[in-house]
Amino acid sequence: MIKLQLDRLGRNIDFASYAKEMEAIHASIENKTGAGNDYLGWVDYPNTYDKEEFQKILACAKEIRENYDCLVVCGIGGSYLGARAAIEALNGLYPEDKMEIIFLGQTFAPSYIAQVLRHLEKKNFAINVISKSGTTTETALGFRLVKELLEKKVGKEKAAKAVYATTDKEKGALLDLSKKYGYTRFVLPADIGGRYSVFTAVGLLPMAVAGIDIQAFMDGAKAGMEEYGKGADNEAYRYGLVRHELYKAGYPVEMFVSYEPRFVQLGEWWKQLFGESEGKEHTGLLPDSATFSTDLHSLGQFIQEGSPVLFETVMEIQHPAEDVVIPNDEDNLDKLNYLEGKTLDFVNKKAMEGTMDAHANVGNVPNLHLQVEAMDAYHLGQLMYFFMRACAMSCYLNHINPFNQPGVEIYKKNMFHLLGKPGF
Ligand code: PA5
Repeated sequence: MIKLQLDRLGRNIDFASYAKEMEAIHASIENKTGAGNDYLGWVDYPNTYDKEEFQKILACAKEIRENYDCLVVCGIGGSYLGARAAIEALNGLYPEDKMEIIFLGQTFAPSYIAQVLRHLEKKNFAINVISKSGTTTETALGFRLVKELLEKKVGKEKAAKAVYATTDKEKGALLDLSKKYGYTRFVLPADIGGRYSVFTAVGLLPMAVAGIDIQAFMDGAKAGMEEYGKGADNEAYRYGLVRHELYKAGYPVEMFVSYEPRFVQLGEWWKQLFGESEGKEHTGLLPDSATFSTDLHSLGQFIQEGSPVLFETVMEIQHPAEDVVIPNDEDNLDKLNYLEGKTLDFVNKKAMEGTMDAHANVGNVPNLHLQVEAMDAYHLGQLMYFFMRACAMSCYLNHINPFNQPGVEIYKKNMFHLLGKPGF
């Protein structure tokens, strides 16, 4: 289970004084009576998920792996970040897996899209288009372009067989399109919002195509559900409470820190989860992320001695997936032989300990320390579930509905007006 170490927080948190409030919030999450309660389907989803659809995901992933060499995942926000985070965290940035996963539908950027389309011209690819509403412009536009390319390459009939659509069960433009062309369909349940959907087909199909053990991922989520669902006194809620207390104490920014470049996208998922859930009614922590030790050579100066606006949540993976032993060098001109025989994980951990002490003890930057046993499918499932529970607790402590995003509509309206969309 994930451990929360608070010895570098620089203050004591009076957990007992929140016990009653947290119990009430916990009950409202469990009984699905809290604000936004029609979006609490994720809470017991690791138990209630559709087992038949799960088998269909496994079968389609196998089919895709056997018949194509590339999958284009077309989605944005909650319809993309979880899958990308999981695939990069587990498979790394230069995976040896033969299946290539490419992301589209998350941008309008012409040079990005043009390059992706050019790259796909030479590929035998399938598409997983993901959109709950079915009307998100970035995704719909990306899909239109990639679908056109595929139809030109292999013809309409074969193209339709290569499209897998994940959307609402009952409504939306993507559902209509899928029915018309006969795409294989997966469901994003109505009571689960995008940023809480990584355990549905939204996350699972791309992950399974990437060769990830999605059963282990769901087992980890279930372990999280059992641990953080059995009572109000648990590490996920404590993390939620500490964030809330630090916000009240005058720290408006939380920086999620990892020591591994393959977790950059996990940071992006985390930022969306907390930012879109909590940032409402002119309140909420600004979620930021950094990768150390890389960013110690850029942001490190600010964190140590800049404006005292932030606290850090440092994620430690106790047993990394791989390790490397540092060799001896005869000349020792680089003066590194003192590290001979040590592992890179040893060095990375010392960098982490030294940095936490420097930031917390010298810089007075509160440090929360999250310890995760390993980064495999099981522990990642548990971790993502942990963050969802923590996020719900933080939002409710702040009297915020964690499951809507009213502010996102404003840019869309302006953009539609400027684009000349009928009705805007
Ligand atoms: O978390 C959310 O609800 C959003 O980030 C959505 O996932 C995102 O806007 C994409 O929406 P849709 O799946 O409807 O295309």
